[in-house]
Amino acid sequence: MTQGAPVTRWDTDFDVLSPEYVADPFRIWDELRPTCPVAHTDRRGSTWLPTRYQDVVDLAHDIDHFSSTQISVIPFNGERPDEPILAYGIPPISADPPLHTWTRRLLLPWFSHRRVEGYEAMTRALCAELIDGFVSEGRADAAHDYAQQIPVRVIAGILGVPSSLSDTFTGWVRDLLEFADDPVRRARGANGLVGFFVDEVGKRKTEPGDDLLSDLLHSQSDDGQPVDERVVLGVAALVLIAGVDTTWSAIGSSLWHLATHTEDRDRLVHDPAAMPMAIEELLRAYSPVTMARVVTEDVDFVGCPMRAGDKVLLNFPGANRDPEVFEDADRVVLDRELNRHVAFGSGIHRCAGSNLARMELRVALEEWLHRIPEFSLADGAEVTWAGGQIRGPRQLPVVFR
Ligand code: HEM
Repeated sequence: MTQGAPVTRWDTDFDVLSPEYVADPFRIWDELRPTCPVAHTDRRGSTWLPTRYQDVVDLAHDIDHFSSTQISVIPFNGERPDEPILAYGIPPISADPPLHTWTRRLLLPWFSHRRVEGYEAMTRALCAELIDGFVSEGRADAAHDYAQQIPVRVIAGILGVPSSLSDTFTGWVRDLLEFADDPVRRARGANGLVGFFVDEVGKRKTEPGDDLLSDLLHSQSDDGQPVDERVVLGVAALVLIAGVDTTWSAIGSSLWHLATHTEDRDRLVHDPAAMPMAIEELLRAYSPVTMARVVTEDVDFVGCPMRAGDKVLLNFPGANRDPEVFEDADRVVLDRELNRHVAFGSGIHRCAGSNLARMELRVALEEWLHRIPEFSLADGAEVTWAGGQIRGPRQLPVVFR
């Protein structure tokens, strides 16, 4: 089937970029699970889409058959940007062991509970300042004016790069993830990001700072040698890519939910202690991230004949809506007791930034609800969603008193 043509069969010809899938993938997964739990398409190459929780978890754990060397949901077509500079990809996310193991170890200390506590005051001040900018107007675009502005600035602080470039960083990350079907935009995003970090790494060589980029540059790899500069570039690019669209989408989806579900909004305003459980539930219900794997050798997976080179989508958002695992899976239950969601993935690649993501999401909602306890979608609001690798609202007009 031609790329971009309307989808008539979700089991044999799905398209994750089709408007129906972006707007409401939940209905599609619910239809597929009992009839064809692992769907297939030949759009953008042979690709499989599991929809059941256990299948997604099993796939994520089988790193021998399902490699992380191709993680893009939308494969590159045509131009491959700056291949030699990113010869090691963007580890650890795009690497299998052994590269995965030691690059992940380099990153983890920067996102430990203790470190993340240290970023909370800065995040809270940033949220308050953003709200100051629009609160008196009685309206705002909660996605653009708020959610989008938070994670990129926090990550810039951790990396030690200027937060005044936030819009530029956001533009590159969106080009890479949201407009991945457009080779020109995708190359622009990749080249912008890589070019920027090449310059920043150059500066850190002579003037190291107290930041992640300097730390990486002065670390050692698993053989005791200084880390190859191309690895440093890849890891730095990953931190920006992984830390921006993801968390912004989670904050935006949560605000969309609260704008459209008054009882949940009021509950969190009046019972702030409910917030930690609510955060987990919102992450489950509106999981933003789908990843991909490439099949390393022909394998039969739950009856599906997967061929070497095929793609498999790790549909974490779909897994989190599986009624076999979550009672009332399509309903948001703020105090859900049993909630083993996989919004942050599963297995060796489980999100390295989950402490940071949770803190940002909690602080962003706390500050918003504290200052703007009553809000709803603006009349005739046109809410738009990004989809593909990361799902979240990009335009979210709300009004408040
Ligand atoms: C709500 C926000 C977030 C969500 C839902 C999310 C989700 C995920 C998922 C599903 C994975 C697994 C990828 C795979 O299996 O291939 C992952 C990996 C990763 N995430 Fe996050 N993420 C979020 C925020 C962040 C933040 C703020 C950072 C900080 C920089 C971050 C850094 C990473 C890194 C470095 C990896 C790769 C870990 C590895 O390969 O070992 N993420 N994330």
